[in-house]
Amino acid sequence: MENLTVIVLAAGGGTRMKSKTMKVLHPVAGRSMIGHVLRAVQAVEPTRVVAVVGHQREQVGPHITSLVPDAVLAVQETQEGTGHAVRIAMEAAGTTTGTVIVAAGDTPLLEGDSLRAFAEEHEAAQRAVSILSGRVPNPFGYGRIVRNAEGDVEAIVEEKEATDEQRRIDEINSGILAFDAGFLVSALPRITNDNAKGEYYLTDAVGLAREDGLTVGAHLIDDVAQTEGANDRAQLAELGRELNRRIVTRWMREGVTVMDPATTWIEADVVLEPDVTILPGTQLLGATVVREDAVVGPDTTLKDCEVGPGARVVRTHGELAVVGGGANVGPFAYLRPGTQLGAGGKIGTFVETKNARIDDGAKVPHLSYVGDAEIGEGTNIGAGTIFANYDGVTKHRTVIGKQARTGSNNTFVAPVEVGDGAGTAGGTVVRRNVPAGALAVSSGPQRNLEGWTESRRAGTAQAEAAAAARTAGEREPTPGE
Ligand code: UD1
Ligand code: CA
Repeated sequence: MENLTVIVLAAGGGTRMKSKTMKVLHPVAGRSMIGHVLRAVQAVEPTRVVAVVGHQREQVGPHITSLVPDAVLAVQETQEGTGHAVRIAMEAAGTTTGTVIVAAGDTPLLEGDSLRAFAEEHEAAQRAVSILSGRVPNPFGYGRIVRNAEGDVEAIVEEKEATDEQRRIDEINSGILAFDAGFLVSALPRITNDNAKGEYYLTDAVGLAREDGLTVGAHLIDDVAQTEGANDRAQLAELGRELNRRIVTRWMREGVTVMDPATTWIEADVVLEPDVTILPGTQLLGATVVREDAVVGPDTTLKDCEVGPGARVVRTHGELAVVGGGANVGPFAYLRPGTQLGAGGKIGTFVETKNARIDDGAKVPHLSYVGDAEIGEGTNIGAGTIFANYDGVTKHRTVIGKQARTGSNNTFVAPVEVGDGAGTAGGTVVRRNVPAGALAVSSGPQRNLEGWTESRRAGTAQAEAAAAARTAGEREPTPGE
């Protein structure tokens, strides 16, 4: 497209969302609604993008420029209709030539290919106006495409202006229009607000083109969902499910096994490789990447995570974590930001990790918290280990070398270091560094205080049981033990 301007309308209030967040900023499949629209728009490589902002423009404007840095923001102070919005946009665009496409900011299923096909057809047909139209089972609320006996488009008639007969027309204006810029600039000042809503209807430009004797046409889109907007959260959820269905289907076609598409949620920016398997109840969010032969799920949520080839991640919640190739995670693991598990490593059952590098082949198999730590290659951490990283004021690191074997129920009181090939006994509270090859033992010999329960817990069920055991002679106390 040589000189293509795309105008995205996003000034409306979206009051039916009943939200402090502006409608077009509501997320679906990991992007804002307008983020999806801008992706489709950018795929067409337009010469310029103009976004019309109004309501909450201090939220919407920066969001748009974060996605399309060179987008022109046109401010519409009061929302007086789509014709008014486009007039302001054309003033900001600084062009009166080429092709202009107008789209809305709330149609998250829109695809670049559809927009391109529409723009190309519009240019090839050399029309003043093209309408991306659709057939819908319930056309209520839409502008209807009125055709003459020859089938040529005569006008778009808005719901409130339509006659009963026109209301029965099921071909509707999707809201996406293409214009010859010269015609558009000449038509905008001629649009009036003399109608039921007291608004400047952009759609009146169609009738004006016909009056000028110019060509107008409609391009019927088969996949109407691409042009559907969400006005409230119920519609947003419906579009979200449909968008997810499309994303999941696309990945299955790319060679990913998805056992249960209905309970699998994959956001738009996720990347999957062939022969990945996703089990039911799994959400892959943000910039998550899953490499070939990895198996994720069931019941797993990963946000901005990377899962290496052949890794296995079961019933896990992860965010900003990296899982190495062939590694095992879960069931019931919580990977917090900064977790890096090496190839062939393990973060097992009921293990929480944060800001922790667990090198190749190292294992934290059971019931542990690993925070602010480095665990060297091939090291095994005993069950029930706590990395006590927080002294109540600051966080400290624990560094454990390679091929270490730490006992069960250890506490590493950071900052502390354990050398390569070192060991710790069960129940050790490691407060001092352990040299390479040493065994750390911190717990003293066990003492049994005989009769303690009956003397200190008299009258309790525990004391009753102790007394019963004593009288039954199950155990003879040895004085002085
Ligand atoms: C519009 C079309 C209708 C079409 C329908 C498709 C007009 C007059 N009617 O109707 O033919 O079938 O879309 O959904 O164009 N906006 C602004 N500034 C304004 C008014 C609207 O930026 O002053 C934005 C809105 O935020 C929205 C879009 O334009 O993104 C469409 O506006 P809306 O009021 O929803 O138009 P509809 O009545 O739905
Ligand atoms: Ca609308």
